[in-house]
Amino acid sequence: MNMAANDLHVTIVGVGPGDPEMLTIKAQKAVESADIVVGFQTVLNVVSSWVTNGELCPMSYRDQDKVLDYAQSQVKAGKTCVVCAWGDLNVSARELLERVYTRIGKVTLIPGISSIQFAAARTGIFMEESLFITLHKRADTGADLEELIHHLNDGLRNIILLPRPFDLMPSLIATDLIKAGIPATRVVRVYQRLSFSDEQCWEGTLGELGNYTKDFSDLSILVFRLPE
Ligand SMILES: C[S@@+](CC[C@H](N)C(=O)[O-])C[C@H]1O[C@@H](n2cnc3c(N)ncnc32)[C@H](O)[C@@H]1O
Repeated sequence: MNMAANDLHVTIVGVGPGDPEMLTIKAQKAVESADIVVGFQTVLNVVSSWVTNGELCPMSYRDQDKVLDYAQSQVKAGKTCVVCAWGDLNVSARELLERVYTRIGKVTLIPGISSIQFAAARTGIFMEESLFITLHKRADTGADLEELIHHLNDGLRNIILLPRPFDLMPSLIATDLIKAGIPATRVVRVYQRLSFSDEQCWEGTLGELGNYTKDFSDLSILVFRLPE
């Protein structure tokens, strides 16, 4: 990683899984007092009611470097900046954090509540008996899928899995797992839009999931519980 060697400072906050009431008070205060608040539009939607006089800087996957360059220039000019990320910062948010680290030498992280904590709470599983795997990254996911297959076969931990919108979604993952020898009868849950008012939970076998034809939300999480 190319760390920025400068004295510039930004705060990165995790905004939680989507319900604005899941934002921490620390995050609210940081957003309220910031001169500029940066993040993907869906993330800014979570915090926008707390932004008082700060400038909202929405970014998309395409223009994120441009927006972060702008944020860096504003910090150089003496402005305070908060970058917002979905859920928690140390859960599948690496690419955004590294984009900030290449521009800013001093970064304060304010953790948020992760969607995977929500999935654990909804399922009633314990993190200490669980394994988290994310496919939500630009890098090759071959090794992650192998690890997933290995641990499903091992049967020692619950597995919480983030799919990748929209090329590695739940139905395709199920088909790939069956092809890799995981029994089609294995039960899996898919949570969609956790913490939102239209949250949904689907439960069925891998075989059923592989044949499922409706679209799942980009905010979806798979949970494989330990066999009883
Ligand atoms: C780039 S990852 C970021 C995860 C985030 N840092 C966290 O801690 O929740 C985005 C993925 O997290 C999952 N996700 C985030 N929020 C969710 C929610 N409210 N309901 C279901 N899945 C969610 C989805 O798999 C989504 O594609």
